[in-house]
Amino acid sequence: MGSLIEFVDLKVIFHMGGMQVVALRGVDLDLRRGEVLGVLGESGSGKTVLIHAAFRLLPENAKVSGKILYQGKDLLSMDRRRAMRLIGQNFSLIPQGFGALNPFLKSWLQISERPMEHFGVGKEEGHRRAEFLLGTMGINQPSRTANSYRHQLSGGMLQRVLVAMGASGPSQVVFLDEPTKGLDEGMKRLVVSLLKKARERSDAMMVVSHDLGFLEEVSDRICVMYCGDILEVSKVREFFVSPRHPYSSALLNSLPSRGLKPIEGEIPSMVSPPDGCRFSPRCRQRDARCANKRPPMKAVDDVMVRCFKYA
Ligand SMILES: Nc1ncnc2c1ncn2[C@@H]1O[C@H](COP(=O)(O)OP(=O)(O)OP(=O)(O)O)[C@@H](O)[C@H]1O
Ligand SMILES: [Mg+2]
Repeated sequence: MGSLIEFVDLKVIFHMGGMQVVALRGVDLDLRRGEVLGVLGESGSGKTVLIHAAFRLLPENAKVSGKILYQGKDLLSMDRRRAMRLIGQNFSLIPQGFGALNPFLKSWLQISERPMEHFGVGKEEGHRRAEFLLGTMGINQPSRTANSYRHQLSGGMLQRVLVAMGASGPSQVVFLDEPTKGLDEGMKRLVVSLLKKARERSDAMMVVSHDLGFLEEVSDRICVMYCGDILEVSKVREFFVSPRHPYSSALLNSLPSRGLKPIEGEIPSMVSPPDGCRFSPRCRQRDARCANKRPPMKAVDDVMVRCFKYA
């Protein structure tokens, strides 16, 4: 499978007054044609920053270096207007959280914004399509939801609006940032089935989630992030059967079905993170090298893993 998107040594540093946060530490990752790549990681690991970098949505205080190649073209060094056109025509996003919704726009306008802006869909058609999409999501009165503002809708309804935003236009690449957050089991099933349908129509998908069960069901490969680093990338089955990185094993052991053993220690502060392997203070398998030096990414069989155990 060829790469559709390649993240090459992507670094993102946020500057805030005198402080800086290295949100991505030099990420190398490819999204392959035909796949669903599941991205897993605790809060603050850089998952949303990774997606926002691909959409050129990062704020002014973010210093970005490296490359994001889409079909070989670098979206970061390209002229902004050209990049936004390419992104708008080819990528779609189910954003994380209701903050992504404009409080002054009705839902239908936000759902159909992308097809209206990039695919010549008119207002009436956009309105009709948004209602139709909402209707497929188990809403009794889709037209009422379509005509509501953010503050008028419940959490479950708003999450449906976010999902509809990502599903409203044709896309080569679909990015989903926590698409099942705050949804009950029934709605989660619906998102899984929508995702499977969207998969047939798109070239590749990147799905970010904390929900391991959900990622196991929908992903072909799993990428594990921790404090701005990718620690492991492997095929989904391989990941759940024999995780390579100590952090991956710890994450799996924290699942209720595997003994509910919490990971010891705390996620470090991103303002002053550990120098070497960022997981090293919490790692039971650390040795003298881990605290000082960032381990290199190594290929072990089919798996990429960033740990001195394999170096
Ligand atoms: N605009 C910003 N200014 C400063 N720091 C930021 C900004 N946006 C993100 N960060 C920092 O970058 C790091 C990565 O954030 P990100 O939102 O990507 O995490 P995440 O993995 O998506 O977490 P979650 O699972 O909670 O959504 C965090 O330490 C966060 O505080
Ligand atoms: Mg996030």
